[in-house]
Amino acid sequence: MADDIHNIVILTGAGVSAESGLATFRGPDGLWEGHRVEDVATPEAFARDPDLVHGFYDARREKLRTVEPNAAHKALARLDEQWPGELLLVTQNVDDLHERAGSKRLLHMHGELTSGWCLRCNERFGWSGPMGMSAECPGCGTAGLVRPDIVWFGEMPYEMERIDEALRRCDLFVSIGTSGAVYPAAGFVQTASYSGARTLEMNLEPSLGSFLFDESRTGPAGELVPAWVDEILG
Ligand code: APR
Repeated sequence: MADDIHNIVILTGAGVSAESGLATFRGPDGLWEGHRVEDVATPEAFARDPDLVHGFYDARREKLRTVEPNAAHKALARLDEQWPGELLLVTQNVDDLHERAGSKRLLHMHGELTSGWCLRCNERFGWSGPMGMSAECPGCGTAGLVRPDIVWFGEMPYEMERIDEALRRCDLFVSIGTSGAVYPAAGFVQTASYSGARTLEMNLEPSLGSFLFDESRTGPAGELVPAWVDEILG
């Protein structure tokens, strides 16, 4: 491992879960191909047609039960376990494959499929199975006001202050499997870079912001990430 690297921030996107069998958002067969984002992933869509929105997330929650963490998730969990310095894994993914692989120093900036949020009492709680319109809040018992705990377009991602602080202090920023199409995550590389961090991207193809990174490696995360973890752990 390089002696000058102590604090690492890692950002992951849908590409890290692709080899587990979960569709990415953009590109052929992407999740947005069959849906307009405005119809399923905005608060306005939920107000207009909650059945459609619940159906979209219920199907993704169901699919999650059929997939397993891949070599990239496992390698990142190994790094989390063995890295002696600070480390924060920020995922844009709403699947739970990082935690199932064993990652602990992890936060979900776009929420989680396995979590619900009651609009009546503001509680967040674990959720499995379908949610639907009749879902009851386990806290206050109100039915019909539980929504997927997902950050939709137009909403504020979670834990931005903590992420920003970690980015300003890190020595190395690594972005894995994200197209760089969605802010604020797409801008993390600049925050880290302006603060003096080295930056590395690993993606199937160069992302929209590839030119912002010191180094860009192209290929499947299931191959690139384990090799990089071996490298950094020395
Ligand atoms: N290994 C590495 N990268 C891969 C792999 C793979 N096996 N398969 C696909 N990719 C890359 C694609 O080339 C693409 O650049 O992963 C990227 C996935 O990009 P998106 O589908 O745009 O997903 P993401 O960047 O996570 O989207 C960000 O947008 O729709 C919202 O909230 C949603 O969190 C999501 C956000």
